[in-house]
Parts: sequence; structure tokens; C-alpha cells
Amino acid sequence: MQSGRSCLAIILAAGEGTRMKSLRPKVLHEVAGRSLLGHAIASVSAAGADAIVIVIGPDRPEVAAEAKALLPAAEIAIQQERRGTAHAVLAAREALARGYDDVLVAFADTPLLRPETYQAMRAELAKGSQIAALGFEARDPTGYGRFVIEGGALKAIVEHKDASEAERAITLCNAGLMALEGRDALAILDAIGNANAQNEYYLTDAVAVARGKGLKTVALTAPESEVQGVNDRAQLASVEAEFQRRKRLEVMANGATLIAPETVFFSHDTRIGRDVLIEPNVVFGPGVSVADEAVIHAFSHLEGAEVGPQASVGPYGRLRPGAKLGRKVRIGNFVEIKAADLGEGVKVNHLTYVGDASVGPNSNIGAGTITCNYDGFLKSRTTIGAGAFVGSNSSLVAPVTIGDGAYIGSGSVITRDVPADALAIGRGRQVEREGWARNFRAEAQEMKKNAAKTKD
Ligand code: UD1
Ligand code: MG
Repeated sequence: MQSGRSCLAIILAAGEGTRMKSLRPKVLHEVAGRSLLGHAIASVSAAGADAIVIVIGPDRPEVAAEAKALLPAAEIAIQQERRGTAHAVLAAREALARGYDDVLVAFADTPLLRPETYQAMRAELAKGSQIAALGFEARDPTGYGRFVIEGGALKAIVEHKDASEAERAITLCNAGLMALEGRDALAILDAIGNANAQNEYYLTDAVAVARGKGLKTVALTAPESEVQGVNDRAQLASVEAEFQRRKRLEVMANGATLIAPETVFFSHDTRIGRDVLIEPNVVFGPGVSVADEAVIHAFSHLEGAEVGPQASVGPYGRLRPGAKLGRKVRIGNFVEIKAADLGEGVKVNHLTYVGDASVGPNSNIGAGTITCNYDGFLKSRTTIGAGAFVGSNSSLVAPVTIGDGAYIGSGSVITRDVPADALAIGRGRQVEREGWARNFRAEAQEMKKNAAKTKD
């Protein structure tokens, strides 16, 4: 990592988040299937952080639990009282005192920051600055801290509430993100006071303090779309939209075709191969990978699934967690696959549920087949061999095994194992009665006539 410099990341997550109107802490709300906190952790990790401290408010065990679940090595620091962003950073004093080359301060509610941006800030420290702060050109600067630039250098950051008229005219605003040279960080943070409009300890004052010590401070910029934060549900949706926009471009840049990109929704971890075709209105939940040359037809929903090369899913296909499709598998309309392994060339073309199952290569599962995997208490498995043929509208009552090359007659309820290459039929035997329908119609018509007469 960057000239071998060590890095501590401090993620501030002690927000109140009242505008979310939610029982859940704000930073646990999700964008593309991952919590805001998860996005922040992933970005600073990718930027090379060796240690990560999450600063949370008191009584927020859910946030600590999420941090630990995402990254067992994460350290938790509690900020007992909300007394400002510098005060929050100092909750991580112990980690700061260990001594790192770079200290990154990130906000947990700003999930779109790219690792490259954090890396660019670290690069400024490596080049000799003591502080690098990230700014953006704000469409509406109201409420943000303003960057005061003098002679090309960042002289100070002035909070909106403390700013003069002239300073309020500045549109280059503080995104909140800061990188500090670790050697000086504690001394700078400890020197910050709270003599301001909000009586808070502002992290932004680190700039003026550093300048007072004759240290070098620099401003970097990022697009406003990258630094947008989440305070309410509308902003959450806006961040989601920006994430999806980026992900669609990434998927297409990697060689997949999206016919109507704006109608396809990805998860943070969706992996799409080359020459994959994705039709309109497809949703990817977490944990999906799609191999090269596969086709995902319109209106399909996939989560926790693996789609093999040249396989095809949908239209209206549903893949649930543990669905694993081999090469050239075909999943047709209104088919649901869960925790099932389908070998190469398997066809499940219509109206079928395959759950807790394995299906050998080249088997054909007819329309309306159901693996009956649940008896109200336990789940059981269905095992189907290679080259088997399951006739339409069959119920396979698990646990049950169907051998290689076996044939299941349509409409069967299969409750016992079927040997390889056997035929199994489990349904009522068909009977025909000559002339029955003709006689029935004649009798019925007679009865209807008599009934009408008695009414008259
Ligand atoms: C902060 C910046 C401002 C910047 C803006 C960008 C300061 C003083 N101001 O202002 O320059 O333009 O972000 O959005 O840094 N937090 C704590 N503990 C605290 C206070 C805050 O953990 O005691 C956390 C919050 O949860 C949040 C972040 O720090 O994640 C920023 O706090 P917030 O109160 O939103 O700061 P702003 O006033 O928006
Ligand atoms: Mg804020």
C-alpha cells in the first residue's frame, strides 16, 4: 500500500438520524443491500486502512454488532456526549496514540466515497502535507463548512453558522472527510477549542490549528454526487440511485449488455461476466454471480445465486439463496430455484419449484413439477440423477432419490426412490366407459325439462 505507510481509519457513526423516522439507527439503513456503515468500512479498507475504529453513540449496541459482523477486527469507541466532530475523533484516542502514518476520518453516512478518493488524500500526506481535506462545489452551500483558499492553499474551514457574509458566498464546501498526518494528529486535535456558534469541538478547526503551527494543509475536491450524505429517506434514495448508476456503468464497462440499464438493480457485490445479456426489469439481491455469456431475461429476481456460463434465466425467473446453475442450464418462466445444484444442460422451463435438491446433468424437469421439501417441521432433499426425465405436474416428496436416466410419468406423486433407468408412475389409473357421456347428457336434459314443467 502507498509507499508502505500505515493507516488508521476513524469512522464517525454517532449520528442521531432522527430525520430517518426509523427504529433502526441511520447507519444501518442499506444501499444496494449493504448498510451505510458497511459501505464506509469497505471503502476505507480498500484504501488500505490497517486498523478501523468506529465511533458510536452510547446505547447503540446494534451499530457495534453490525461493525463486528462486517469486520471482526473493527474497534469500537463510544462517544458519550455529542460535542462535535473533533470530540468524536478523540474518542479513538487510544488508537491514535498507537501511532500511524496516516489517519483518515470518514463519516458513516457518506457511503459513496470511492477508495481512490481516500487514496488520493493519503497520497497528499505522503507528499508532505499534514492535513488533506476533501471539498466539493455545492449547488446549494447552505449548512456546509466553507473552504477558505489563499494562494492555492487551504487556509481554514469555516462552519456555515460561524461564517461571515463574504465567506458564505464561497461555494467550495467541506465534504467532512479528512486525512491527517498521524505524527501530528493528536496534538492538533487536542488544541481544538469550542469557542464557536455551536460550542462544539469542530474537526474542521484542525486546518487553522495546523496552519498556526506552520504545517502544510491542502484541499482536494470530489464531485458532489460522490460526497452526498444520508439524513433522510429521500437522500437515501438519491444515494441508492447514484450507486446503481455507477454499478450499471461498471457492469457494461466489463462487457455485459444491459438493454435498459436504468431498470436493472444490482447489489453492492453482484458479479457479472462478459457477454452476459440482461434484459429490462431485473433485480439482483446480495450474493449473485453470473458467468460469461449467460442471459437473464426480463422480470427475473436473483439473490444468493450462481449462474453458470451460457445459462439462461427467465423471463420471470426466481433464483433464491443457494441456487447454483451449471453451464447451459435453462430456467424458464415462473420457475423458483432454492438451495439446489443444477448440472450442465438441465432444463426447468416452466412453472416449477426446485428446492433443497440436486439435479444431474441434462435432466429435464417438466412443467409444474414441485419438490415437496417441507413437511411443516423439517426440510428434506430431493436427488435427481443425470439424464432423468420428470413428467409435467409431478410432486417429488422428499427425501427421495431419482436415479440416472429414470422416467417419471406426468402427474405422479413420487414418495419412494426410483432406480436408474426405471419408469415410475404414481397416480390413479385411467378408466374409460363407452357411451357414458352420451347417456349422462340425455338423462340430464330429461331431468331439466321435468323440473321446468313443475315450475310452470
Ligand atoms: C460537518 C462539517 C462541515 C461539513 C459537513 C458535511 C464539522 C464541524 N463540520 O457538518 O464542515 O460541510 O459535515 O456534511 O465537522 N458526529 C459524531 N459526533 C459528534 C458530532 C458529529 O459522531 O459529536 C458525526 C455525525 O454522526 C456525522 C458526522 O460526524 O456522521 C458529521 O456530523 P454533523 O453533525 O452532520 O456535522 P455537520 O454540521 O453536517
Ligand atoms: Mg451533517
